[in-house]
Amino acid sequence: MNPLAKELNEIIEKGNPRILDMLADVGKELFFPKGILTQSAEAKQKAHKLNATIGIAMEEGRTMQLRSVSGSVSDIRPGEYLTYAPSYGIAGLREEWKKSLYKKNPSLKEKQISLPVVVSGITHAISIFADVWVNPGDVIVIPEMMWGNYNMIFGVRHKARVSHYDFYSPSGGFNVAGLESRVREEAKTNKKIIVLLNFPHNPTGYAITKSEAEAVAKALIQIANEGTHIIAVMDDAYFGLFYEEDVLKESLFALLCQKHPNLLAVKLDGATKESYVWGLRVGFVTYGCSTTGDMALFYDALERKTAGCVRGDISNASHLGQSIILKSMLDKDFDKEKQEKYDILEARAKKVKAVLADKKYSDAWDVYPFNAGYFMCIRLKNVNAEKLRVHLLDKYGVGLISIGDKNLRVAFSCIDERDIQELFDIIYRGYKDLAG
Ligand SMILES: Cc1ncc(COP(=O)(O)O)c(C=O)c1O
Repeated sequence: MNPLAKELNEIIEKGNPRILDMLADVGKELFFPKGILTQSAEAKQKAHKLNATIGIAMEEGRTMQLRSVSGSVSDIRPGEYLTYAPSYGIAGLREEWKKSLYKKNPSLKEKQISLPVVVSGITHAISIFADVWVNPGDVIVIPEMMWGNYNMIFGVRHKARVSHYDFYSPSGGFNVAGLESRVREEAKTNKKIIVLLNFPHNPTGYAITKSEAEAVAKALIQIANEGTHIIAVMDDAYFGLFYEEDVLKESLFALLCQKHPNLLAVKLDGATKESYVWGLRVGFVTYGCSTTGDMALFYDALERKTAGCVRGDISNASHLGQSIILKSMLDKDFDKEKQEKYDILEARAKKVKAVLADKKYSDAWDVYPFNAGYFMCIRLKNVNAEKLRVHLLDKYGVGLISIGDKNLRVAFSCIDERDIQELFDIIYRGYKDLAG
């Protein structure tokens, strides 16, 4: 094992030996390389005369550039987007995102969290999380309704065993009892369990209520207290898009952070949906856990392993993307602009609810509870979902996503409010064409 990895493992073991146990074999071997990166960083501070360390091209002391490239970017200096970003992400953005986590999650007050490590979008955050924490054969508990890419990352690429429970409880909310009994069942034969929680949820558009969130936190803390090592990983891709009063308006991360030494909370989030920048590819990995001793040193060790993993994967996330996001977060109109877009999406969600309250659709489908995010789902009564999807596309030019035999997912995030009534009327007409 590399001596730097050994050193980090010793720091982690000293702060909380359970967290060292939770690391994947790859995670245990990860470290942040010194070599070229450290020497370059040192030279950046001290090489005032000639700095011949960096793997970029310079000209007259400036970043070499093609006008045909830099001509497309007017408000950011070439040095802030043509050059490499650090593997950790640019310092200002990491600090600003951390600050925003405290603002968006009041329950984090007085808790210590790591400095977020920047990755290339939330998919990459999940992938890096899996590299650092998931061994082949590890069990990961995820509801059966889920974003399909989890299977690709955890099941196919990392050979973890995905263990399912029903997303909804029989009474229609989040299935807290189902989650708890699945984790308890797995805890009988597994020392370490990874629990993935995604709210607002893809595909249902359901966000956990405050009372459900408290029950989930209580159950996971209790199971951790009984001796199981729990890694609770939050995919907060749609964070902030909460449309109803009783919904938890912060991340479950805040309720699980530093609650028990056997419980590691990991927050995966990003600017992708929070700032409407799907193609910029800026995501974050942030840790919250209980340790003894020097907390800053401990988190620094986790950050080094995570950034080392980024270094060995994509080297670093888009500098342009990071600079744009940082600039936007510091803009005086940032909060106002976000509120305006939130209001549009909230109005659409309310309109979908109002349209679907009409009893005329009730012979065709049931509506799954939704209160957040981009999506909602309907459960068809007597028509196959894929057949209806294809029929709607061919006959009416309407595109939806079919999930399994029964469910259709509607992304109201991309349908203007004025078109929502017509959308569901067409779905109903298509249903009737097939149902007879
Ligand atoms: C639940 C969930 N997680 C993660 C992502 C991916 O986000 P990103 O585009 O930042 O990789 C999505 C996007 O579709 C998603 O629905």
